[in-house]
Amino acid sequence: MISVQDIIQDLEGLIQELEQSLGQASSFQELEKIRVEYLGRKGRLAQVMSRLPELSKEDRPQAGKKANEIKNKLHELFEEKKESLEEQKNRLDLATFDPTIPGRNPDVGSLHPITRVIEDICSVFIQLGFDVVSGPEVENDFYNFEALNIPPEHPARDMQDTLYITDKILLRTHTSPLQIRTMLKRKPPVAAVAPGKVYRRDSDLTHTPMFHQIEGFLVDTQVSMADLRGTLTAFLHRIFGPKTRVRFRPSFFPFTEPSAEVDISCVMCGGEGKIDGQTCRVCKETGWVEILGCGMIDPAVFAMVDYDPEKYSGFAFGLGVERIAMLKYGIGDLRMFFENDIRFLQQFV
Ligand code: DAH
Repeated sequence: MISVQDIIQDLEGLIQELEQSLGQASSFQELEKIRVEYLGRKGRLAQVMSRLPELSKEDRPQAGKKANEIKNKLHELFEEKKESLEEQKNRLDLATFDPTIPGRNPDVGSLHPITRVIEDICSVFIQLGFDVVSGPEVENDFYNFEALNIPPEHPARDMQDTLYITDKILLRTHTSPLQIRTMLKRKPPVAAVAPGKVYRRDSDLTHTPMFHQIEGFLVDTQVSMADLRGTLTAFLHRIFGPKTRVRFRPSFFPFTEPSAEVDISCVMCGGEGKIDGQTCRVCKETGWVEILGCGMIDPAVFAMVDYDPEKYSGFAFGLGVERIAMLKYGIGDLRMFFENDIRFLQQFV
């Protein structure tokens, strides 16, 4: 027959042993092992409790009471250890958390460089008082050619260049039809820029069948070539920097008279023609790059839109967006704009 003292001694022994085991535990795994060992269904406490029925009836209540006390004490010790481990872990997490490690950025979209250049250019002209207008990419012969003083036998109408849909309907080959469409809708003074896609039957290293242009024009009383020069020079300085030199060369366009082509000092070599003694690839050693076409609107065009050429004068210009983007960002290959390689596009965020 076992005595109640034996049982109580064993129970109290459990407390000491558990304290010792817990003192050595340093992880949640170890803690769980100890929990099973002492408090589990077949653990040390359960083993002692299973011996209670061996006691005499009189002794059982006293031992039972003690057993309960010990059980609670064991649970308490266990919980305390658990809390202290958790606290330790939190402190460790803080100590190993490095706030200087860069976060993971979510992927954000970006504007296509062509869109960006269009927005940049339009914003300069908006600040100069121009409106932004747009029109259809599927045009008819009248707006694309006839009203722009391009007669039927003009080479620009050649099948080589124009993508025809029917005899009279075509994909616009330039944004100049927006001059006509806008002038037919409004009376002077009028100043507008018109960005958009244009199409030509042309495809090689330096030509794509679709590309972008921006047309611009201004009509009022007493508009002179000096206004044209001043406006375009201010614009080019804004886009390429105030040190850029600008020159006007006589040229020909059917819808302007006189006409000019505008060059800027080469953005690659700064107009030197050479870089480290080597021929500049962009300007081919000339120091200049062609940037746009322009001129004073031909009275024949005014006649088409019913503007009085005695009263009004105006200037117009047209530029290629891809070309400006290539020069501005130093992009050597036109195809970059159309391949949409994400590594290329991400540089324009
Ligand atoms: N439309 C011409 C082209 O596509 C560009 C151009 C030149 C537009 C002179 C103009 C201009 O308005 O005055 O080549």
